[in-house]
Amino acid sequence: MSKTATLNFDGNQYELPVVEGSESEQAIDIAKLRGSSGLITIDPGFKNTGSTQSAITFLDGEKGILRYRGYPIEQLAEKSTFLEVAYLLIKGELPTAKELEEYKDSITHHTLVHEDMKQFAEAFPTKAHPMGVLSAMISAMSTFYPESYDPNRDTESVDKTIIRLIAKLPTLAAWAHKNSLGHPIMYPKNKLNYCENFLNMMFAMPTEDYEIDPVVVNALDKLLILHADHEQNCSASAVRLVGSSQSNLYSSISAGVSALWGPLHGGANQAVIEMLEKIKEDGGDVEKWVNKAKDKNDTFRLMGFGHRVYKNFDPRAKIIKKACDDILSKLGVNDPVLDIAKKLEETALKDEYFVARKLYPNVDFYSGIIYRALGIPTEMFTVMFAIGRLPGWIAQWKEMVENKEPIGRPRQVYVGSQERQYPG
Ligand code: CMC
Repeated sequence: MSKTATLNFDGNQYELPVVEGSESEQAIDIAKLRGSSGLITIDPGFKNTGSTQSAITFLDGEKGILRYRGYPIEQLAEKSTFLEVAYLLIKGELPTAKELEEYKDSITHHTLVHEDMKQFAEAFPTKAHPMGVLSAMISAMSTFYPESYDPNRDTESVDKTIIRLIAKLPTLAAWAHKNSLGHPIMYPKNKLNYCENFLNMMFAMPTEDYEIDPVVVNALDKLLILHADHEQNCSASAVRLVGSSQSNLYSSISAGVSALWGPLHGGANQAVIEMLEKIKEDGGDVEKWVNKAKDKNDTFRLMGFGHRVYKNFDPRAKIIKKACDDILSKLGVNDPVLDIAKKLEETALKDEYFVARKLYPNVDFYSGIIYRALGIPTEMFTVMFAIGRLPGWIAQWKEMVENKEPIGRPRQVYVGSQERQYPG
């Protein structure tokens, strides 16, 4: 017998179905509540609202569990590669060796971006934030592939769009960086793997080759895996919502990039490094900044701390903190902000304010320190997050389409003026 929940309201009783997930999560299905009772539910920020039933990522915020398609993030970070994880997220199963080779091959052969797109890239001011450039260029890409507008979403055409997006995003990202320097763009090279290719387009010059360090390549690949999906977060929800109007995949992903940009979401990785730098310049008094974060009259928040769903620890942060020490020592980098980050973490974790609110370092707390050690400029940190998150956004969009989900359209409780007459 399936479970139900009973709602008593105004002397009436309503039986509501309870949906159960594969990890025994339970949710009250209120989809038909308005029809029977006239009531809607309200939950600003969707803090307690499930927007969908999804088979992509499982997350238990209390226990600090994160799994993609059932595989623990710790195992994927240690044993897999970013493109294999992308395949897993998008197609639902790990590829065979042959399937993976074919997948890598098709991505490698779509890394070139249409030459006319260069005019867009070069037209942005050099001061443009690369996230703004990336979002605009992804949206602009749809104009080169009008077949992607088809609301019937033919499988072959969708598959091609997916390959194009994964293949071309690093090219566009590196262009955004080159434009910010006023340097000529570098073209992709088919003999390089995904991360090598990106690093080469970022750092090589027509006048000078870039020496690709395998330590940097492996570290980057691991970071991309850790960012690849995170179920119904702000940007994934944006992608699903935009896509639900039958808008094309390029514009949905562009919306995801815009949502990620904000400092409360992916933009936190840039904000963390800027915060640590500020603390260092201010003399390194960590206590002072922790107190500022606690002060309700001060708008300062400890960036890289706290999470909507993790209330014990963020498993990605645990892996990244360890990787941070390894990578910095392998690269022989001594970054003074790492000491500030560790002191800040130690102080906050002992502080009653942070303990009571279950605020822990999140994925973004240490990732910026690694990106910096890899030579990635601060304004590009959130772009790195976007490259990592792309397969997740695609998987979320594809699931929404395959489940034939209706257009996303929340309701509201109106609290404005009642009807009144226009004067005169
Ligand atoms: N510093 C100080 N206080 C904080 C912080 C923080 N970083 N985060 C939350 N709080 C306090 C907040 O003031 C509130 O206190 P009170 O109950 O007294 O009003 C309480 O903790 C709950 O916070 P909230 O804002 O209601 O929680 P939320 O779930 O709406 O927000 C969050 C989650 C991630 C936006 C928030 O913790 C935050 O702003 N963190 C800093 C930004 C950040 O690091 N974002 C990256 C998130 S992980 C990457 C990603 O996947 O996006």
